[in-house]
Amino acid sequence: MNQPKRVALISGAGRNIGAATARELAGRGYHVIVNYRSDAGAAAEVVTAIESSGGTAEAVRADVCDADDVTALVEKVRAGHGRIDLLICNANTVTPPFVPFAELEWDAFAAKITGELAGSFFLTQRTLAVMRGQGAGRIIYISSTASDTIGMAMAHSVAKAALNTFSRHIAGIAAQYGVTVNTVAFGAVHTDATSEFTEGFWKYTTDRSVAGRKVEPEDAARAVALVADDGFGFTSGQVIRVDGGFEVMDQQLHPLADSFR
Ligand SMILES: NC(=O)c1ccc[n+]([C@@H]2O[C@H](COP(=O)([O-])OP(=O)(O)OC[C@H]3O[C@@H](n4cnc5c(N)ncnc54)[C@H](OP(=O)(O)O)[C@@H]3O)[C@@H](O)[C@H]2O)c1
Repeated sequence: MNQPKRVALISGAGRNIGAATARELAGRGYHVIVNYRSDAGAAAEVVTAIESSGGTAEAVRADVCDADDVTALVEKVRAGHGRIDLLICNANTVTPPFVPFAELEWDAFAAKITGELAGSFFLTQRTLAVMRGQGAGRIIYISSTASDTIGMAMAHSVAKAALNTFSRHIAGIAAQYGVTVNTVAFGAVHTDATSEFTEGFWKYTTDRSVAGRKVEPEDAARAVALVADDGFGFTSGQVIRVDGGFEVMDQQLHPLADSFR
C-alpha cells in the first residue's frame, strides 16, 4: 500500500525563498501547501511548476498575520490531509523601514516587530496543536543574520532577534510532543526584498562568500530542506546561520587583522 505523502505548509511561498523551498520540498516527496497573501498568480505558477515535475501542491490564500485566516488555513490542511508534517514560517510580512534611527518612526519600528512575530505566532499555535495530536512534526523559521548585526536596518534586526528567541521558546514547548523546531538565519539572498540593494553591497558580500557569488533562492531552499531532513531530527532549538561564510571572511578581511599576521 502506498504511504500517504508528508505534508509541508510554507508561508509566503508564491515568490523567491518560499517558492524555491516549495519546489525543493515537492522534489523531495512532500505534498506542499503554497501559502500566499495577495499574488494568486505567482502561487499558481509554483503549483504548476511542481506538478510539471511530477510533484503535488496546492495554493491556499491566507494572511498569516490574521488569526482567523490562519485558523482557516490550518483547518483546511488538517481537514484535507489529516496531518501537517512540516511548517515553514517564511513569509516576509513587513518590509522594514530603511532609515537612520533619528528619523525612525515608532509606528514603523513597532509594525515591523509585531508583523514579524504575528507571521509566526498564529501559524505556530494552530499548527502545533495538529502536530501535538500526531506526536511528531518539524517547524522551521526563516530568520536573518541581521539579528546579530548593528548599524543596518535596526527594526529588521530587532524583529529577527525576537523571532530567534521566540523559536527557542517554541522548541522547548514542542519537544514534549516529539516536534523539532529550528531556525535558519540567512545572510543576503538575491530576491525581490533585496532588489534595491546597491552593487557595492553585493560586491562586498560576494567578496566574502565561499561561493564567490550571490546566494539565490534555490541555494537557500536546499539549506532549509537539509534542516527539514530526518537526518536533522535530533536537533532542536538551534538558530543555524547560512551566510556563505560571510561572518568569518568579514573578520578575516578586516583591516585590523593585518596587525596580527
Ligand atoms: N532576501 C534576503 O536577503 C533574506 C535574508 C535573510 C532572511 N530572509 C527572510 O526570508 C524570508 C523570505 O524572504 P524573501 O526575500 O523571499 O521575501 P519576498 O521576496 O519579499 O517574498 C515575500 C513573500 O511573502 C509573502 N507574504 C508577505 N506577507 C504575507 C502574509 N502576511 N501572509 C502570507 N504571505 C505573506 C508574499 O506573498 P504575496 O506576494 O502573495 O503577498 C511573498 O510571496 C523572509 O522571512 C525574510 O525575512 C530574506
